[in-house]
Amino acid sequence: MCGIVGYIGEAQAAPILLDGLSKLEYRGYDSAGIAVYDGTDIQVKKATGRLKVLNELTHDGVTMPGTLGIGHTRWATHGAPTDANAHPHYNSTETIAVVHNGIIENYLKVKKRLLEKGYVFQSDTDTEVIAHLLDYYYKGDPIETITKLMLRLEGSYALGIIFKDHADVLYAVRKDSPLIVGKAAEGSLIASDVPAVLKYTREVYFIQNEEIAVLSRDDISFRNVDGEPITKESTTIEWDINAAEKGGYEHFMQKEMYEQPKTVRDTLSPRLKDGRIVIEELGMTDDEIRGIRKIHIVACGSAYHTRVTAKYVFEGLARIPVEVDLASEFRYRNPILEEGALVIIISQSGETADSLAALREARSRGVKTLGIVNVVGSSIAREADKVMYTWAGPEIAVATTKAYSAQLIAQYLLALKFAQVRGTVTERECAGMIGDLKKLPEQIELLLGSKERIQRFANRYIAAKDVFFIGRGIDYAISLEGSLKLKEISYIHSEAYAAGELKHGTISLIEEGTLVAAVATQEDLYKKTISNIVEVRTRGAFVMAVTNTGNTEIEKAADYVIYIPQTNRYFTNSLAIIPLQLFSYYVSVGRGCDVDKPRNLAKSVTVE
Ligand code: M6R
Repeated sequence: MCGIVGYIGEAQAAPILLDGLSKLEYRGYDSAGIAVYDGTDIQVKKATGRLKVLNELTHDGVTMPGTLGIGHTRWATHGAPTDANAHPHYNSTETIAVVHNGIIENYLKVKKRLLEKGYVFQSDTDTEVIAHLLDYYYKGDPIETITKLMLRLEGSYALGIIFKDHADVLYAVRKDSPLIVGKAAEGSLIASDVPAVLKYTREVYFIQNEEIAVLSRDDISFRNVDGEPITKESTTIEWDINAAEKGGYEHFMQKEMYEQPKTVRDTLSPRLKDGRIVIEELGMTDDEIRGIRKIHIVACGSAYHTRVTAKYVFEGLARIPVEVDLASEFRYRNPILEEGALVIIISQSGETADSLAALREARSRGVKTLGIVNVVGSSIAREADKVMYTWAGPEIAVATTKAYSAQLIAQYLLALKFAQVRGTVTERECAGMIGDLKKLPEQIELLLGSKERIQRFANRYIAAKDVFFIGRGIDYAISLEGSLKLKEISYIHSEAYAAGELKHGTISLIEEGTLVAAVATQEDLYKKTISNIVEVRTRGAFVMAVTNTGNTEIEKAADYVIYIPQTNRYFTNSLAIIPLQLFSYYVSVGRGCDVDKPRNLAKSVTVE
């Protein structure tokens, strides 16, 4: 999604804006632009394509002098990715400039009114409507203008605004799109996300819905939707600055895969105390946990895949019925949410539009909600009744790896906690499982260590046209994620099937040499999956199998076998996913794809 930055201070704004935008590249974009007040006018430069085009155009910002500016990376929604549609957008007299992340739902209606009043539009965007509407309301007082704008706009927005008449102030406002404010030694910044400001400051304010931030060279203040002053506390960001950079790895995805042992450890450790699972942030008494009648798990993409795993884990361990939903379906299907239901929303970014809407839908029906979220202070984290953070740190690559692993761990912990309280596992079983959880970081490290072997294998498949992933039970959930990883970063068509389902149609697609990745970590289903492997192999498939150490019998059926260390049957997902991530990564690298920023994709899908 779009990225916003803004700066006001003593230093030259343009280089800071360009640097900030480079830290937001992970959000996905197709054009970029900056606006800088040069002491007389607001200058705007924008360009379609990668940021380096804008860097070249502005000589890395040198040709745009000035100490107040805003910048933007645009991921096209309204109007094609062109220079004209790129942000910032001006009003007609070029005295107001604005950058926007989000979607204005009533923009056509507003645009019609503005056209009737004689406004002329240069772009197809919903954002230009904002620039002209600001102009329409402006009578010399920016705050009054912005509050009127807020009352008129429907939809989501994070805005950075400059008024030429008030060139000593940078204004920012948000509703349902992320925006933060940072206070640095030599000025103040706004940004869509923390990595864009980390080089300058660790002190940030999270702007809440319908709040306005007013930044001057030496002060930051906040107003509510009525323009009244409000006070806000800043948060100190503890992330290592290198966490938002590549740290010597070739790609963010590679770095993030290698951070998984730490991520898993960080998500586990604070919740394991004296051999017990303690999830303080859950804020539920044992009686409340016993009272849960049904769990609804709702998410999108990879987060949704962790929910498929979680269904098996919650039902298997805690014996609570679980309904799993895609957030984009849940929000519109009028779900039956009865008393005693718990709705769990899982999201790395905490800003995914469908997941946020699903959360609001659940809340509006009065059921308890729990967010499992990675980004602290994000919308889902703030709006859910309770929030359990995954401690994965910033995830930059569009393809999730470490956040996915952390989401699995959070759900194992939750399921085991519920099982403990409800008495559906014995203390001995529980202790055994906690022991297995603690071993996961080391086991993941071991699997990451075998990358050369997987890289060699991946190189043989860089020209593959179709790949199928199959598995049963939890292994089906792993197959879903393995398949998504491959297709999103390598653009190879792939599909995941519950292994038993293949012969009901899809097996007709198997041809000589088609790659089938079969996951077989569930001992009780192992033989069944072997039968499915034989079925596809008989029809010409080349089978790569992922199974537990010791299951050597599979070598008779599969062509290539990857072994994962022994763990509890409910946790195998955390290990089996590692070789599948590595496989996808090396196929993508081998094909010369843009691993971290795959085409058409955005890291955080903040529009519907
Ligand atoms: O930020 P979220 O976890 O809510 O994002 C959900 C999906 O958009 C995300 O998992 C997506 O599928 C990833 N690109 C997959 O790698």
